[in-house]
Amino acid sequence: MKVHVANHPLISHKLTVLRDKNTDSPTFRHLVEELVTLLAYEATRDVRVEKVEIVTPVQPTTGVKLAEPRPVVVPILRAGLGMLEGMSRLVPTAEIGFLGMVRDEKTLQASTYANRLPEDLSGRQCFVLDPMLATGGTLVAAINFLIERGATEITAICILSAPEGIAVLEEAFKDSGVPINLVTGALDERLNENGYIVPGLGDAGDRLYGVV
Ligand code: URA
Repeated sequence: MKVHVANHPLISHKLTVLRDKNTDSPTFRHLVEELVTLLAYEATRDVRVEKVEIVTPVQPTTGVKLAEPRPVVVPILRAGLGMLEGMSRLVPTAEIGFLGMVRDEKTLQASTYANRLPEDLSGRQCFVLDPMLATGGTLVAAINFLIERGATEITAICILSAPEGIAVLEEAFKDSGVPINLVTGALDERLNENGYIVPGLGDAGDRLYGVV
């Protein structure tokens, strides 16, 4: 698995405001969108393109456009929804599929409650949006769904990641034969006893949607 931790002062600055418990929900949502756009720029570095002939006002030339089949963006509900706008801004023609997953706060096991994905993902590059890579349970389940449907390359975009979650992903997909990438804004210290990322930012869904 290829892991890219964004190392950019603007990302670190925005992450610091995001982590602050005094940051209100509207500001939090706005920052998540901005951060995702910055991370998506890195995550789409190898997005497939094909040649296209155009004519500029000066002369004909060859450029590129996103290749068919289009990439698929999969926000994991609930918190991944807060990342969709920032991703769509960068790749507006991507197809969007949804996965609803919830983790049991006691067992930390992820289960699926909604699934609106194309049946056939053969040959598709998929971008999974989930703000927090904590235990890794949700992302492993989501990526397995995509692999079962034929996805050929999967990139997870996470605002924050814990080392424990990265290790779980690496172990789960080491023999899958499908390239898995992770692009994350920061690699935090660890998980606490409740499965929260430390120092983290708290519950991303609650902070996005004003539950706290
Ligand atoms: N999910 C969250 O929203 N926050 C964490 O710290 C871990 C999982």
